[in-house]
Amino acid sequence: MEFTVKNAPVAGQRSACIVVAVSGARRPGDSAAALDKAAGGTIVNVLKRGDMKPGAGNTLWLYDVKGVACERILLVDCGEDKELADTAFRKVVRGMATALRGAAVKDALCCLAEIPVRDRDTAWKVRQIVEATADTLYRFEHGPDKKETRGRLNRLHINVNDAADVRPAREAVRVGKAVNTGVELAKNLGNLPPNVCTPSHLASEARRIAAGDERLRVKVLQEKDMARLKMGALLAVARGSRQPPQLIELAWNGGRRNAAPLVLVGKGITFDSGGISIKPAAAMDEMKYDMCGAASVLGAIAAIAQLKLPINVVALVPTCENLPDGNATKPGDVVTTLSGKTVEILNTDAEGRLILCDTLTYGERFKPAAVVDVATLTGACVIALGKHAAGLLGNDADLVGELRQAGEDTGDRAWELPLWDDYQEQLKSNFADMSNVGGREAGTITAACFLARFAEKYPWAHLDIAGVAWRSGNAKGATGRPVPLLVEFLMKRGKRH
Ligand code: BES
Ligand code: MN
Ligand code: ZN
Repeated sequence: MEFTVKNAPVAGQRSACIVVAVSGARRPGDSAAALDKAAGGTIVNVLKRGDMKPGAGNTLWLYDVKGVACERILLVDCGEDKELADTAFRKVVRGMATALRGAAVKDALCCLAEIPVRDRDTAWKVRQIVEATADTLYRFEHGPDKKETRGRLNRLHINVNDAADVRPAREAVRVGKAVNTGVELAKNLGNLPPNVCTPSHLASEARRIAAGDERLRVKVLQEKDMARLKMGALLAVARGSRQPPQLIELAWNGGRRNAAPLVLVGKGITFDSGGISIKPAAAMDEMKYDMCGAASVLGAIAAIAQLKLPINVVALVPTCENLPDGNATKPGDVVTTLSGKTVEILNTDAEGRLILCDTLTYGERFKPAAVVDVATLTGACVIALGKHAAGLLGNDADLVGELRQAGEDTGDRAWELPLWDDYQEQLKSNFADMSNVGGREAGTITAACFLARFAEKYPWAHLDIAGVAWRSGNAKGATGRPVPLLVEFLMKRGKRH
């Protein structure tokens, strides 16, 4: 999907479609008013008849309007407010994209960046248009309607009314397109069936990403390497599966040679059956999405390589399946982690923290400036925050604050939960240094408490994306979250230097 920036009077533009805003389904915005003038009042007349349903994102098509060079006009309502909130603006953009998706339109001119949004500049709006449009138009690469090409939108021109906004708007397009690359990669990996998206598939995907740029480096640790290192927790999860585990290391070296890297860790369980503590059958297919943390950190690396960010970032992806088998880990088994700490595995379904803890310890060798892990870790997080926000916990207030803000600015939100020591006692075990489960209460927090014990040597934050990584039901599919949040966070870090 291509995006370009324009700065031209709208009335004379030629395109298959021009998209303009109206408010309250009655009053034309600036561009709509300009078209209306050229059309001798046709648009206002149509609006007066009341066919357009008020509400942000609602649309109305007009065809062959006399005096207007574009074949179609798409009116998009932006509600009644003088200034829109972030979420309302995104709703307006999604309204546009949904209408365009249903039409035989290959290219369109979008004039929605003129809508006033509270505390946001034109560049922010342009980036939102680029990201929300691609997100809405996404189709899974192997999905049933992938081949449908009828008038598929492949180019969106974005008009800005002020010539001074052209340069920042072009930069916003560049960033938005890189985010789209990462989001699309994460969605495609997430949506693949679990017999295709295996741990080795993720490894070859990382190698493919790395092949695109010599500043990208990939290394994949195999089971024997993990055994040599004594990654007892990661190996305990992988035991029940015929697929060998992999620990993927994908590094972007865009910064100074000796600059401390940021480390991203992504949970890569390519299928989570629960293991011996097996899950109920209903919706178990959705546990193919248990590698969405991994997909998002690989997507983030692809995006920042496209942006050529001047920082060093390492993505670490521990990946395996969690299956029951004669060789599988049993409830009651005690394992020794890479850190030397022992864990009594009381529930084999709490496997994410086991593969992550050894990876967090492994991360120490990079002497990281900070570590952020991303994981579909707990069902409890879906209960706590629903599908709107990722859970956010960490041992460093500044880092947590940066991630929260990055989520706010991109609309890929995260919300902090407390990581107080009070919760640590729920992890007590009679037979090891800790148990891998903390009981029913505060499940997201006790999972993070477990991870925190392996992240004491650096600033660390954890994103629990169980609620946001995919949608269920009719719209079942990966969301690509939190790639936008991660890229924004990394961009801000890149600007510090
Ligand atoms: N991958 C799941 C978490 C999950 C469940 C995400 C449902 C999204 C929807 C994770 O490995 C898991 O099974 N967690 C357990 C932990 C429990 C055994 C302490 C859970 O949340 O039930
Ligand atoms: Mn599980
Ligand atoms: Zn899991």
